[in-house]
Amino acid sequence: MEDYCEHVIYEKNPEVGGTWYENQYPGVACDVPAHIYTFTWGPNPNWSHFYAEGPEIRQHIQNVAKEYDLTKNIVFNAQVLDATWLEEEGKWHVKVDVNGHVKEDKADVVINASGVLNNWRWPSIPGLKDFKGHLCHSAVWDHSYDYEDKKVAVIGNGSSAIQIVPKLQPVVKHMTTFIRSPTWISSNFAAQHASAEGGNFEYSTEQKKEFEDAEKLLAYRKKIEHDFNQLYRGLEYGTPEHEFFQEESRRIMTTRLNGSKELAEKLIPTWSFGCRRLSPGDGYLEALQAPNVTPIFNAAARITEDGIVDSDGTEHKVDAIICATGFDVSFAKQWTVTGRHGKTLQEQWKDNPQSYFSVCAKDFPNLFFVLGPNSPVGNGSLIPQMEWAGAYAVKWVEKMAQEQIHSIDPKQEAVDDFNVYTQEYLKRTVYTSHCRSWYKNNKIDGPVTAMWAGSPMHFKDLMSTQRGEDFDIKYCSPNRFRFFGNGTTWRDATNADLSYYLRKDGFST
Ligand SMILES: Cc1cc2nc3c(=O)[nH]c(=O)nc-3n(C[C@H](O)[C@H](O)[C@H](O)COP(=O)(O)OP(=O)(O)OC[C@H]3O[C@@H](n4cnc5c(N)ncnc54)[C@H](O)[C@@H]3O)c2cc1C
Ligand SMILES: NC(=O)c1ccc[n+]([C@@H]2O[C@H](COP(=O)([O-])OP(=O)(O)OC[C@H]3O[C@@H](n4cnc5c(N)ncnc54)[C@H](OP(=O)(O)O)[C@@H]3O)[C@@H](O)[C@H]2O)c1
Repeated sequence: MEDYCEHVIYEKNPEVGGTWYENQYPGVACDVPAHIYTFTWGPNPNWSHFYAEGPEIRQHIQNVAKEYDLTKNIVFNAQVLDATWLEEEGKWHVKVDVNGHVKEDKADVVINASGVLNNWRWPSIPGLKDFKGHLCHSAVWDHSYDYEDKKVAVIGNGSSAIQIVPKLQPVVKHMTTFIRSPTWISSNFAAQHASAEGGNFEYSTEQKKEFEDAEKLLAYRKKIEHDFNQLYRGLEYGTPEHEFFQEESRRIMTTRLNGSKELAEKLIPTWSFGCRRLSPGDGYLEALQAPNVTPIFNAAARITEDGIVDSDGTEHKVDAIICATGFDVSFAKQWTVTGRHGKTLQEQWKDNPQSYFSVCAKDFPNLFFVLGPNSPVGNGSLIPQMEWAGAYAVKWVEKMAQEQIHSIDPKQEAVDDFNVYTQEYLKRTVYTSHCRSWYKNNKIDGPVTAMWAGSPMHFKDLMSTQRGEDFDIKYCSPNRFRFFGNGTTWRDATNADLSYYLRKDGFST
């Protein structure tokens, strides 16, 4: 991209890492195998374990950024506050808070890669701020607080709580967990490549040495990635894979709950396996049965100065409350975005964020999203899928630069058709089952706002074509072919090889 445009990355944090910089709670880890939760172009022969913990992923991202000198275009401690499209200029005016000073920048194109799970939120429980003890959210862990021998409440039963509970349970005096809804605890992802029991394992020195051979490492990664890219089949109603996963999870949960009918009734969902983000949850069900843990299977109704009152009216006095209560996943909240005709993305996407192929939004020209609405956030490793969305945006940037394009904007009919197709397809998938999930903007019913309608390969194929016919394209000049210039090319001008297309081995384009 550097050949035809300048770019800058504004990052609100002081370093790279995103999710893995921010989420530092005990037990934070990736449940996708480390070798495929890796940049496709930046492999790491030295992953310590099959499934890596958060700090190791954060370090890996930093290593890659350093190795490829990627931080040179990043402004750290720079939070984007606002982006407004100016039609006459064909530019976005972007307001950024850099170290406490608001500056304005202009750009032909903005790529929003600010993360779908990057806007943590407090739960709306009355009295939350009255609590006199230690209050924290899983996404902003306070390392200065010592949980040892404390009475602690954990609110939530999602992937974050599932990792926190088994790590803190042995440390605390007593833990009360508030579980408002049941959840499926699955087997590990790509478990056929994990240890003999399907669990995590540490790579030996010999294995790491072998992975230094780029061919061997690639073959290993390809095997896991190939298998993992088939996960989507298990997330469609009625497939043999779905039946198998669901029954296998029921078996795993029943066994790990030691046959307790009461716990099984409360923890095993009646909605379909995979409706909300799956969690393998090593040690979670065991921790819930520990003598120092009291699971409460109803909502935290109210918070007092000393603890939490559950919806049966019982008060649970605690020293600390951990809210593992998730994120604002409305896709448009990180900063205000004003597009054509004064429209704001916040307003346009308030009830139902309808994107074009997850990467663009109507009336927000030259704005691209990585992991926008209805992107493949749940059925494969996210890293390649983010790369494909990024590469799609870069292709447009290149075309716009070369062909002197003022702006591109997806046509309304293309957005409509995409969303009709998407919601119709998603009816086949378990995401539409009756669970509350961030895939549905933390609702039980309603459109599935987060998921791609198809397999990872399906997304990849669609990202590899630009489909200009789906866009309104406005040029910088009244004649769209102004970029034809003086009728010669750089090859003519520089007297480069003017017969480069003659080849000994066949046809060349
Ligand atoms: C605790 C946790 C565990 C997860 N585990 C897994 C897993 O096991 N497997 C998996 O596939 N996925 C997992 N995910 C999902 C994870 O978010 C994605 O895999 C991936 O990290 C998304 O990358 P991203 O770059 O899109 O977003 P992020 O990693 O969130 O990065 C977004 C970046 O944008 C910056 N930013 C945001 N707003 C602004 C602003 N206004 N101005 C400037 N900068 C801004 C942020 O500071 C951040 O650096 C997990 C998520 C969480 C929260
Ligand atoms: N791979 C991993 O290991 C991993 C780890 C962490 C996070 N993640 C990613 O991050 C996503 C978010 O995970 P998360 O666990 O942070 O959030 P989450 O999945 O949205 O879970 C939030 C939990 O908090 C509960 N909750 C929210 N508000 C509440 C309230 N007012 N009272 C009581 N309970 C309340 C929810 O209950 P209900 O269920 O009733 O809504 C839910 O159990 C995951 O889905 C996943 O994509 C992945």
